[in-house]
Amino acid sequence: MNSNERPESMERIVTPKLADTFIEEKVIEVQKQVRDRKVLVALSGGIDSSVVAALLIRAIGNNTICVHVDHGLLRKGESEQVVSIFRNQMKANVAYIDASERFLKKLEGISDPEQKRKIIGTEFIAVFEEEAKKINGIEFLGQGTIYPDIVESKCVKTHHNVGGLPENLRFKLVEPIKFLFKDEVRVVGKQLGLPDSIIHRQPFPGPGLGVRCTGAITRDRLMAVRESDAILREEFAEAGLEDKVWQYFTIVPDYRSTGVRNGQRIWDWPVIIRAVNTKDAMTATIEEIPWSLLNKITRRILTEVKGVNRVLYDLSPKPCATIEWE
Ligand code: XMP
Repeated sequence: MNSNERPESMERIVTPKLADTFIEEKVIEVQKQVRDRKVLVALSGGIDSSVVAALLIRAIGNNTICVHVDHGLLRKGESEQVVSIFRNQMKANVAYIDASERFLKKLEGISDPEQKRKIIGTEFIAVFEEEAKKINGIEFLGQGTIYPDIVESKCVKTHHNVGGLPENLRFKLVEPIKFLFKDEVRVVGKQLGLPDSIIHRQPFPGPGLGVRCTGAITRDRLMAVRESDAILREEFAEAGLEDKVWQYFTIVPDYRSTGVRNGQRIWDWPVIIRAVNTKDAMTATIEEIPWSLLNKITRRILTEVKGVNRVLYDLSPKPCATIEWE
């Protein structure tokens, strides 16, 4: 059997009891593989890397070294939340690296989406590598690869991209959840004591807000994406849509339109709202947001977010639009 093929006999982990058994087995497996050596985990705060970190902490305690790299393209409050949950609730060993200035400098003036992705991916590995070198005795890398990543190997997650790791960062891999589907990862995460804010976190692309601030990233538009996204998330949570809609976010494109504020002509950015439902991200439909909620979000964005004079709702399904704008 190919070691990258989910065993046919493997039961689907749909109950807490099955998750507990899975955890027990993986803890023993990891202990056998790693023994008293250290494992480095790139903790993005997404469900997959969080579950791997929590599982490793259960298995080898403080020999799990979590590194959270803030590339400056994360959502509002995200880094603080992830670091605080892992340090305080999970009692983890977490290094927080604020690399935002470095990423933003590298991205200055770059408008091609694929080049932006490449820069973010390469820079991420460079920062991670520098941190790894500072810690003695790291032999292993804990990775949040899950089964769909293996099946759809075309779906490249920068943070999980084994092929993208440079030669001199040759770690042995620890991939305890590589045969799990997303719903199973959630059940396992819950049993490992991760809070709902992580378990139910919506998918977030590796390049983060960078692909939602279209064209060359500027600080003013990045701020507008971050602030409008925070308003959208807050309003969706209050309206009970948080767990109902698969992915929702805002985009700030790199063109302006005229407007008027306090009797003065303005030349500001639009904010586009996107809220989609899907099973596998290959196709997607649009969530029907109540008109009153859309109005409320629009009003808030127009009054609270600097440099914005229009709010639009993207009604395009996938296909032919993709979920992200870049
Ligand atoms: P698209 O835009 O291709 O997105 O319809 C499908 C899903 O993939 C996510 N996405 C990414 N995830 N790195 C990631 O880790 C990326 O470069 C990337 N691009 C898109 C997107 O958020 C959606 O959930």
